[in-house]
Amino acid sequence: MARRKKIYEGKAKILYEGPEPGTLVQYFKDDATAFNAEKKDVIEGKGVLNNRLSEYFMTGLNSIGVPTHFLKRLNMREQLIRSVEIIPLEVIVRNYAAGTLAKRLGLEEGAALPRPIVEFCLKDDNLGDPLVAEEHIIAFGWASQQDLDDMLALALRVNDFMSGVMFGVGIRLADFKIEIGRVFEGDFQRLIIADEISPDSCRLWDIETGEKLDKDVFRRDLGSLTDAYAEVARRLGIIPVPNQQYTKPTLIN
Ligand code: C5P
Repeated sequence: MARRKKIYEGKAKILYEGPEPGTLVQYFKDDATAFNAEKKDVIEGKGVLNNRLSEYFMTGLNSIGVPTHFLKRLNMREQLIRSVEIIPLEVIVRNYAAGTLAKRLGLEEGAALPRPIVEFCLKDDNLGDPLVAEEHIIAFGWASQQDLDDMLALALRVNDFMSGVMFGVGIRLADFKIEIGRVFEGDFQRLIIADEISPDSCRLWDIETGEKLDKDVFRRDLGSLTDAYAEVARRLGIIPVPNQQYTKPTLIN
């Protein structure tokens, strides 16, 4: 059997050539990195959980008409995706102050923001993915004004969907990052959600206890990362609850 062609290897995933033109196979690794890869580890089982979680979120988005690259899950670690031309920007949506926003503006972590805030960072590891203004994006041609408008609309729809899904299982979506890519259909281009949506790229806080159920567990050495991700997956009904039925918490506020 011929060895399949590796297209790209990133920090947490590998892309292989797909079975049909315009498709790729996305493989989820167990590697965890933080602080621009200054902190690294291999967390057994993380890739399997993120494959399932990203499938769950992307399938939900596809079904409400928010287009994503997700086509189908192939196995425990791989999914078939549409090949896209990635826009070199990380799109961050924030509902609560945390991370670099809290640090940059001296906000208390956990403070509710007056409205969702969308930020763009240039995807460039050598520069540490710096925050960029729309002015930079247009001037340097990373995306057009139309792309920016579409990206903003997509990001806010993802935020509404993800916030609602999480709220339903007692989790607050503090913030998240998505990547967006272009697909070409005839003479037209369309923007779709790409990469992954998983606890690696979201901040998820238990509504009742404030417990962190995302990559901050790894960043800040707060315990087992796979336990946190598995808790999210169990609440969403993606993996079974051992020996007992999950009871939905009463949601206040
Ligand atoms: O670090 P910061 O507070 O800017 O992160 C905002 C959100 O974007 C967090 O949910 C974080 O996990 C995510 N993020 C990411 N990849 C990056 C930078 C941020 O997934 N390179």
